[in-house]
Amino acid sequence: MEVVGERAERNQMIEVEDLTKTFGEGDDAVEAVRGVGFTVGEGEIFGLLGANGAGKSTTVLMLATLLAPTSGSARVAGFDLERDGGSIRRSVGAALQETGLDPIQTGGELLDLHARLYGFDGPAADARRDQLLELVGLEDAAGRRIGTYSGGMRRRLDLAAALVNRPRVLFLDEPTTGLDPASRRAIWEEVEQLRGEGVTVLLTTQYLEEADRLADRVAIMADGRIVANGTPEELKSGLGEDVIEVEFTDEAAAERAAVAIGGEARALAGEVRVPAADGPAELIRVVGTLKEAGIEAESVSLARPTLDDVFLGIVADEGDQA
Ligand SMILES: Nc1ncnc2c1ncn2[C@@H]1O[C@H](COP(=O)(O)OP(=O)(O)OP(=O)(O)O)[C@@H](O)[C@H]1O
Ligand SMILES: [Mg+2]
Repeated sequence: MEVVGERAERNQMIEVEDLTKTFGEGDDAVEAVRGVGFTVGEGEIFGLLGANGAGKSTTVLMLATLLAPTSGSARVAGFDLERDGGSIRRSVGAALQETGLDPIQTGGELLDLHARLYGFDGPAADARRDQLLELVGLEDAAGRRIGTYSGGMRRRLDLAAALVNRPRVLFLDEPTTGLDPASRRAIWEEVEQLRGEGVTVLLTTQYLEEADRLADRVAIMADGRIVANGTPEELKSGLGEDVIEVEFTDEAAAERAAVAIGGEARALAGEVRVPAADGPAELIRVVGTLKEAGIEAESVSLARPTLDDVFLGIVADEGDQA
């Protein structure tokens, strides 16, 4: 019998090589994606992380066959993007940022329609619709018009619609943007359940916390390029040093403190974070500086870096190079 080791290579479900997309021509050209490459193994959740305009949606639209690349190549679910787009379309599901949900339709009608489009007939379409409504917890809202749904309910309906054809690869473009914490958690749990079933997921997000929680591997995109790639742990430990967290009661105090501390100190939402190679010594210096400047902190602590620190550090480095 063939022994398949635990470390046997997974099937690659998404393989992307040097993909680019330029919108427009000449002086007006926008290089949205500039040579992106990565692979995602079967059953993996891959997070594409980046700020507004980084090129996340453009990348997803190309891989979902909804936008033609300018150059480069990709295989999705084993099919070549250029030659076999039809097979890819049948194998993938996508919940995109710009949804075209019809407000007058009910959630049940929408799923029914999708099921029929994918070739389920009468009773099979009904059964698939009911399964999906249950999966995303929308049974009670199935007969209501989509126009009356909350943002979280729409995202869950979107997710259900993307799952109609039992895709092996699922593209989720910012699935939780704008949702409250409870709705966000509900989506996370659904995505984790799908991974448990062997579905490969490519999701984009601006929330570092989301990538950290869900993704097996993460690529950070900035300005059309991947600037870092690894497991959340690798990215965080690549930073290699602790971070001093200083909390303030108001944002203005945090801004003043960051200036006083100088160096790589960054203020964000009433908090200042300072990379600290020599932990405790730097902590003492920071506390001393704040005291001298007469800025009172709410709390000061030494912590492990978060993906936010990785992200902000990379974006700052990029800015230095530009
Ligand atoms: N159809 C288009 N025509 C022209 N430019 C476009 C088009 N679509 C996207 N762009 C540009 O390409 C760049 C990348 O956009 P993209 O939507 O991929 O970013 P994103 O990372 O998804 O951002 P967000 O987080 O805001 O969704 C941006 O500069 C955007 O303005
Ligand atoms: Mg986008």
